[in-house]
Amino acid sequence: MLVSSLNLENVRCIKKASIFLGERVNLFLGENGSGKSSLLESIHILATGKSFRTSKIDGVKNFDSDSFTISSIINRNGFEKVIGYRKDKSNIDIRINSINVSKLSELVLNFSLITFHSSSVFIIEGEPQYRRRYIDWWLFHSNTSFYPEWLRYQKLLKQRNAALRQSKSFLHVWDEALAESGEIINSLRQSALQMLMVEVCNVIDESDFQSLSGFSWQYNSGWPKDETFLSALKRNQQRDILYGFTSVGVHRGDLRFTFKGKDAKEYLSRGQQKTLSLIMLIALGSIHKKVLNETPIFLIDDVSSELDTTHRYKLIEKIVNFGGQLILTSIDANDLRFSMSSPVNKFVLQKGDVHVV
Ligand SMILES: Nc1ncnc2c1ncn2[C@@H]1O[C@H](COP(=O)(O)OP(=O)(O)OP(=O)(O)O)[C@@H](O)[C@H]1O
Ligand SMILES: [Mg+2]
Repeated sequence: MLVSSLNLENVRCIKKASIFLGERVNLFLGENGSGKSSLLESIHILATGKSFRTSKIDGVKNFDSDSFTISSIINRNGFEKVIGYRKDKSNIDIRINSINVSKLSELVLNFSLITFHSSSVFIIEGEPQYRRRYIDWWLFHSNTSFYPEWLRYQKLLKQRNAALRQSKSFLHVWDEALAESGEIINSLRQSALQMLMVEVCNVIDESDFQSLSGFSWQYNSGWPKDETFLSALKRNQQRDILYGFTSVGVHRGDLRFTFKGKDAKEYLSRGQQKTLSLIMLIALGSIHKKVLNETPIFLIDDVSSELDTTHRYKLIEKIVNFGGQLILTSIDANDLRFSMSSPVNKFVLQKGDVHVV
């Protein structure tokens, strides 16, 4: 799939921009503060309803304006759609082909987008939610039963937490329903992880990154291995009543990354962690292409920082070889190298103005 055009109004320092993007590599160049990350951020918002830089979407609107607008024509399987996102002081207006949509999940369903940015390394060093999001991204796109089940789980979790604080008498009903839903999500995650591990190891091997061989991960379901979820819920019931929330379950699931048995967080250098986080995203792209026969759009913000030339060249080449659309930023064009066979559309940003080169 691809983003064919992009129109921005009052997105951070970008007051107005209209851009036609190429089907393959699109490179945005510019000095610090010229608006490169803001431009990528706008595509990410269109695809997910969320910024990758702030949890407060209001921060995206230009300081001098009361609203910001992002709109785009996307092309998926030969069909065009117009997607629009506008945020003013009090409302968010999302439209797909001029029809209002109320759920962010509808945006996500229309896009297949993989974003690499300065916080992507949180998948290694950050809170468990970043790693859960990684697995669930793939399940959301590859398995139509995952998202409804995930919604059901969230609802049941809320109901059980409310029961822990109030009625208590119906707890066994919530325990059983939550356990059933949690076991389904858990087994979906386990099989997704097996497939993803194969892809991650392939990317490491094919790129010949010796320093990263010996990588492994261990999945923690969110309750002890030797127990069913239901039994863990029952065993923890008194503690959960005391604290007023459910302490076990897939909402506490996590991945532990190791290298030759050692904890990746402590063992790997900062640059290696960043490399590994990009490898994991490339693995997502690879599995997406193999299983769903579609290459996701890759957004790569400032790949140069902390990645040495060899790692950077090899990983970008891998993404280019998927044959899909790549939209990336760099301060210096010399930091990147593309083979002659991949046409590169170059743009330069200057104080929020975008020019085609
Ligand atoms: N809400 C806003 N309104 C106006 N300007 C903003 C807003 N938020 C950020 N800026 C400014 O927009 C400019 C562009 O920021 P951006 O992060 O997109 O630059 P960049 O080209 O990615 O820079 P770098 O190379 O340092 O990563 C910065 O100077 C920043 O101060
Ligand atoms: Mg930037």
